[in-house]
Amino acid sequence: MSIRIFDTPEMLYEAAATAVVRLANDAVAARGRFLLVLSGGQTPLPLFERLAQPECVHELPWEQTHVFWADERLVPPDDEASNFGQARRVLLRHVPIPEEQIHPVNGVLEPEGAASAYAKELAGLAEPGLPWPRFDLVLLGLGADGHTASIFPGIAGELPDDAPVFALDAGYQDRPARRITLTPAAINDSREVIFLVTGKDKAEALTRALTPGASSEVAPARLIRPLNGSLSWFVDRDAASLLDDGSASRQHEEGHSPRGDSHD
Ligand code: 6PG
Repeated sequence: MSIRIFDTPEMLYEAAATAVVRLANDAVAARGRFLLVLSGGQTPLPLFERLAQPECVHELPWEQTHVFWADERLVPPDDEASNFGQARRVLLRHVPIPEEQIHPVNGVLEPEGAASAYAKELAGLAEPGLPWPRFDLVLLGLGADGHTASIFPGIAGELPDDAPVFALDAGYQDRPARRITLTPAAINDSREVIFLVTGKDKAEALTRALTPGASSEVAPARLIRPLNGSLSWFVDRDAASLLDDGSASRQHEEGHSPRGDSHD
């Protein structure tokens, strides 16, 4: 695992955009397609904006990219709380991705129906013989309560190992509670997972997520451990403010070195 601590959110987003471009082009060169999983919430928005800028659009192989969601609130696609709707407004409508390569959750179904429909959608993109695709990159956020995707504190014991999608009800801030989420089983099959974490309100959750031995019922992000891939944390100085000094200075990143030191 690597942790990169950036002095400013701008540096973090710049590095994140660079990582997405690199991983996308590597995936297409190796396998002919780039399977990208997006998160909702506020944190990824500046990254989406960057990727949508005209000078960046041509750097990504959009024609070979498939986009999925790590989680979705069960609302219609044009509801402003829809993670798909947000990504479409800020990013997808500005880039030349074929419509059929955008794979949103059906937010108007009942939770169990939405989960099984999404599992079916994923199965259709899987390599032969596998139940779900191996994603090239999963972008995740972290809630102030420690959740990631819609894997909330207290649900670790309920998550299936043999299904890629799980339906649940969980209140967080004023966001819609009925949700579906990718499971750790699906996320942990990915080639690369990058958490983006900014702001002081995430400092406690980040510290818990990075504390070896912390319970995944309390710190569900600890369930994210790619089995055969990489895990990186891109965090800004405010989010990192409660990490112990030793780790923070060892892993300090000014945005120009390729990777932080490993931690954990
Ligand atoms: C969602 C997200 C969720 C998000 C965190 C952090 O649907 O709410 O996918 O997991 O990443 O809640 O949200 P912020 O980035 O807004 O802090």
